[in-house]
Amino acid sequence: MFGVRIYFIVMLLVPLGAMAEDGSQLWLRYHPVNAEVAKSRMIQVNSKHETALLARQELDTYWKGRSVELKVQKNEAKLKEGYRIEATGGTVRVTAAQPIGLLYAAYHLLRLQEMSMLNDQLRIEEIPSYDVRILNHWDNLDGTIERGYAGHSLWKWSELPSVISPRYAAYARANASIGINATVLNNVNASPQILDAAYLEKVKALADVFRPYGIRVYLSVNFSSPVVLGGTADADPTREEVQDWWKKKVKEVYALVPDFGGFLVKANSEGQPGPQDYGRTHAQGANMLADALKPYGGLVMWRAFVYNPTAEDRAKQAYLEFVPLDGQFRDNVILQIKNGPIDFQPREPFTPLFGAMQQTPQMLEFQITQEYLGFSNHLAYLAPLFKETLDSDTYGRGAGSTVARVTDGTWHPGRISAISAVANIGEDSNWTGHHFAQANWYAFGRLAWQHQLSSEQIAQEWLRLTFSNDEQFVQPATEMMMTSREAVVNYMMPLGLHHIFAFDHHYGPEPWGDRKGGRADWMPWYYHNADSVGVGFDRTAAGSNAAGQYHPPLDKLYGELESCPENLLLWFHHVPWDYRMRSGATLWEELCVHYDIGVQQVREFQKVWDRLENKVDRRRFAEVQSKLKIQARDAVWWKDACLLYFQTFSKMPIPDNVERPVHELEDLKKIKLNMTHHN
Ligand code: GCU
Repeated sequence: MFGVRIYFIVMLLVPLGAMAEDGSQLWLRYHPVNAEVAKSRMIQVNSKHETALLARQELDTYWKGRSVELKVQKNEAKLKEGYRIEATGGTVRVTAAQPIGLLYAAYHLLRLQEMSMLNDQLRIEEIPSYDVRILNHWDNLDGTIERGYAGHSLWKWSELPSVISPRYAAYARANASIGINATVLNNVNASPQILDAAYLEKVKALADVFRPYGIRVYLSVNFSSPVVLGGTADADPTREEVQDWWKKKVKEVYALVPDFGGFLVKANSEGQPGPQDYGRTHAQGANMLADALKPYGGLVMWRAFVYNPTAEDRAKQAYLEFVPLDGQFRDNVILQIKNGPIDFQPREPFTPLFGAMQQTPQMLEFQITQEYLGFSNHLAYLAPLFKETLDSDTYGRGAGSTVARVTDGTWHPGRISAISAVANIGEDSNWTGHHFAQANWYAFGRLAWQHQLSSEQIAQEWLRLTFSNDEQFVQPATEMMMTSREAVVNYMMPLGLHHIFAFDHHYGPEPWGDRKGGRADWMPWYYHNADSVGVGFDRTAAGSNAAGQYHPPLDKLYGELESCPENLLLWFHHVPWDYRMRSGATLWEELCVHYDIGVQQVREFQKVWDRLENKVDRRRFAEVQSKLKIQARDAVWWKDACLLYFQTFSKMPIPDNVERPVHELEDLKKIKLNMTHHN
């Protein structure tokens, strides 16, 4: 009898289990509790708010522990969206100022439960580092995603608003479980159509699904929307007709989505329209939108990603354009700035705008989608990259003015603080293409919630929740993750090299890239400057002096060859091939060694992963294994392409201890990947 029952359970579990391992469950793998456990404890809540009820429901379904008392207490406003969890006696008490705090606390408890880290004496208080923790989707209305590598868009615009995919709620729940509370639905290269009445109905449908999970919707808007949709003569922000159009449009949006977050704007950047088309400044453009949003509490996230093909170093342009505007922005405008001054490269110094505009709230823009780090083919855990920027000291108000502190509200008490990242999510069953790319979505959420968390802690959490609590899995897999971003830097662009990607797709190497009549600032030679003397971009006082945009002492630290951190050397300096590095090797030798180490690191990841075979379900094991093969081949491709090409300038031999190239440079130059995209 007993045996028969077990047999049936096994029969039921096998197909379920097999289905479950496509990665679609992300880090949310809780198992519902049985009736006995459910009866043994009570989950109580003092609010009827849908979000509070959701918190209770999650615990009711999955919480194995003692009774939980969930309480919204308005007088605890200092907790913001955070919570306090106390467990001393028989009950776990959760206090929050807002219902969403209860939901976040529920996920905190479940996370501890899943990691077997619960104990009797809980005392946790968490207040989020940032008020707005937002994903930017670069999703187009035709279902494609700019720089998306996990399939088409999750948003089925043609089916909305009548068909509501179950993945919309799953998406919202996953975000809520890591504290993300906002999303920009559409590409920064925005189609004006997103503000069309029919699309706003679709936006409303999504906002309605997201709301219980505490997610507010924002939209990217095209600055020319009034012209395209409203037939105005132009989009000049100083003209009343244009201002009125925006006011009416904003009113229409809020009538449908009362908690609408605001607009994200890419203006006068890479061909997008903007206020400068009419001789107006970024501040005038941003303020016009801010005025329209103000009555409803909406925000303008105005992007500082601007550069033009002028004689000025691209890395300097955003600073030159925006610093003079400091103090001119309305109080519901926040400047959205990419972590680095060029464009989401595997390593960049932080953008010098951080800390330079003291009167203007600023927010970070990270890129979770791996546009420049091997798409969804390469395993690259990005928390170390995010942390590198957050922990960078800008010296804007003396030592300790880290990018984290510049942006987290410390500098602008009373104003809204925010942090954003370009999402890597698509309709692939595992959401992100590579199973390990889920960790980057997870890490962004966790850091937006608590920016002081360490990359390692986040990696471990994610591994435990997503794969296994087995220490013999967690330890080696953590190490692999922790090395992975540096491995990409090594085999793609070590020592401060940057933007030597193939022109249109940013996947493979093309340091030789050149196009007749093309923009210089879209050519790899613009960035690497290789010649018979050396390699690197001279951004010292003798060159473009981009180093001078940094606060002392960084201007000198970066600007002088001897003190410049070697991992940014070729970002700031044009360095002779025979320059002696700190290791005693020449620059050329050191470059070769870095490329070689990158390849070796990926080979090591393959071995580590293979050793973990019996700790991971079959499907995810095989899928990661096969991606690592691609990564290993690509790493060799990168190494050979860069070393063979740079060798045509250095004319120096590849050091003996470095693995020999296996390609001919001429063959590598012929590779054309079939991926269409502008730069
Ligand atoms: C990069 C990226 C573009 C994107 C742009 C942006 O240049 O390649 O696809 O539109 O950044 O952030 O606006």
